[in-house]
This record gives sequence, structure tokens and C-alpha cells, in this order.
Amino acid sequence: MTTEPARPHQRGRRMKNWPDYQKIAIVGAGTIGGSWAALFLAKGYDVTVFDPAPGADAAVKTLIEGAWPALRQLAGAPETPQWASLHFVDEVAEAVANADFVQESGPEKPEFKQTLFAQMEAAMPAETIIASSTSGLTLEQLRSGAKHPGRILVGHPFNPPHLVPLVEVVGDEKTDPAAIETAMAFYQHLGKVPVRLTRSVIGHLANRLQGAVWREALYLVSQGIASARDVDAAVAFGPGLRWAIMGPTTTFHLGGGPGGVGAFIDKLGPAVQTWWDDLGTLEWTPELIERLKTEMAELPDYQTLRAERDEKLVEIIKLVK
Ligand SMILES: NC(=O)c1ccc[n+]([C@@H]2O[C@H](COP(=O)([O-])OP(=O)(O)OC[C@H]3O[C@@H](n4cnc5c(N)ncnc54)[C@H](O)[C@@H]3O)[C@@H](O)[C@H]2O)c1
Repeated sequence: MTTEPARPHQRGRRMKNWPDYQKIAIVGAGTIGGSWAALFLAKGYDVTVFDPAPGADAAVKTLIEGAWPALRQLAGAPETPQWASLHFVDEVAEAVANADFVQESGPEKPEFKQTLFAQMEAAMPAETIIASSTSGLTLEQLRSGAKHPGRILVGHPFNPPHLVPLVEVVGDEKTDPAAIETAMAFYQHLGKVPVRLTRSVIGHLANRLQGAVWREALYLVSQGIASARDVDAAVAFGPGLRWAIMGPTTTFHLGGGPGGVGAFIDKLGPAVQTWWDDLGTLEWTPELIERLKTEMAELPDYQTLRAERDEKLVEIIKLVK
């Protein structure tokens, strides 16, 4: 293991050691696995992909080609992908047998992943970490029936993993602490921003946060208080800008002035409590869905919006990392 300097967003966190991995297995290479493959390849790893779908190899290569310009800007990727370091195999055992780290991104079904994990475990050393990209399955579901449950953890990326830095690392008291430390250090070394969850919770951290903000956003729309586009503008051009730099608590820490978060709560804590107490609850109604569809139909087409998002995302990531 070697050490690297902390990045600005890691100020105050202790420096980590990262493992000297060379070979990475990607098991399941659709939207998420393909994007992981692009990132690992850009970072110079030897990447072996297993995905049984016909044409998966061509689809992954297309995804990598599309991701490459951004990876050149964000991840220091070479001018063109090192295709010789990318391998496709027909058996999952072949992918994991010599891997230093496995990133699993197969279909999101508990029984399916359990079978897949059993196949992988039968072919790989007991200590190699298996990180699952799962968005919603619990650690209990993932490791049910596993021979070496301590090395199974969640490494949940935000789509697309080759761009968005966040990885939510979930491990509990049954997970080997060394596996968690190593995975955290490895993701950090990859240029990701790993955050640690001490147990499984539906939606991990980030989807719960998105869910909370979106629920209130749509509650306000459903009450006729503002349009969806004005609510979006209120997020994107107000708190969203500050959240992108430092998240909500550090933002209010600054809001307290030199006295920090304690001073902020002294001044505005009671007011914030009234905001919390007044937050809305919401269910999907046909009227709300129609209203959102009508408003969104006024926006530019999908390709244009997506291109704008990805272009600006690259600039924002360069700025905040
Ligand atoms: N799509 C997202 O926004 C997102 C974000 C974060 C995490 N995730 C998680 O990532 C995982 C994959 O999601 P996705 O959106 O890439 O799905 P996907 O359907 O695009 O990809 C799944 C891939 O698994 C392959 N597969 C099927 N059987 C397999 C097997 N036996 N072994 C290996 N691979 C097999 C499929 O051919 C497919 O290419 C899920 O666990 C999901 O929860 C998804």
C-alpha cells in the first residue's frame, strides 16, 4: 500500500492507503458496469468483463468510446483507450479467478445476485472483495448463503460512475473492517468520493436525500405554490450551487458566521424547526403526473438536455474536486 495527498474535499479527513490492485473484474456490464469498466480502463487497470448478453462486448466498447472525452478531462485518461487491457470472457469464473477486486453490476434481483455471488465465490480467493453496485438490495440479501460474507459489501455509484464521484460504501458489523477500509481507499484512489454507511438502509444516503427534496418540491407544485420549473430554478440557482460545493450542513455552518453551526442553530434553529414541521407529504396523483409532463414537454429534446447536463457536469466536477 502507498499514500497519496488528500484532495481539497477531503480536508480534515485522514490520508488513506490504497491497495496496489492491477486486475479488476466487472461482472454485469450494462449501464452501470459498462461505465465502471470505462473508468477502470481510463485509470490504467487490466479489466475483465463478464456479461452473458449477446453483443455485450460491442455495447461496452461503444459506451467506453462515448465516455472517453470526459475521462480524458476528469480522469487523466490516455488519448485512446488501451483496448489490449480490456478482456471479455464467457464464464464468470474466468472473470473473477485472478481479479484483485470485483465490481458486480448485474440485474437488481436478490435471488439472481445470490446465485451469481455463489458462482463467483466458488472461483475466487476468500479474501478478494466483492463490491456490489446495488441501488436497493441489503447486505443481508447480498450475502445470504455466502461462504465468506465478510468480504461482500456495497459500492453504490451514482450514474454514470465514470463521471459522478460519489460511491456509497455500505458494510456492517458482519463485514470485515479491513475490506471496508480497503474499498474506501481504493475508490478514493480512483478519484471517487467514497462515503461510509454503517448499515443497510433503503436508498442508501443519496437517494433518500434526493427523495426528500423531490417530495417537498412536488408538494409545493401540487399545492399550486410554484411551477415545477420555478422550483427547479430555486434549487439549481440557490441551495444547489452551495450544496455542490459543500453539502447542507457545512453550508449552514458558514451561515452561522464565525460562530459556526452552533451559532446558526441558536439564531435560526427554531425557524428551521417550523420549516420541518410544515413539510408536505405526497402521493402520486394523475393530475400531478400530467402537470409535470406538460411542463417538462416545454424543455429542449432529450439529447440536447443530456448533452448540456454532461458538459456542465464535467466542468462542475473539475471545479469541486
Ligand atoms: N441504472 C442506474 O441508474 C443505477 C445506478 C446505480 C446503481 N445501479 C445498480 O447497478 C446494477 C446494474 O444496473 P444497470 O442499470 O446497469 O442494469 P442493466 O440492466 O443496464 O445491466 C445489467 C447487466 O447485467 C447483465 N447480466 C445478466 N445476467 C448476468 C449474469 N448472470 N452475470 C453477469 N451479468 C449479467 C445484463 O446482460 C446487463 O448487461 C443494479 O444492481 C442497479 O441497482 C443502477
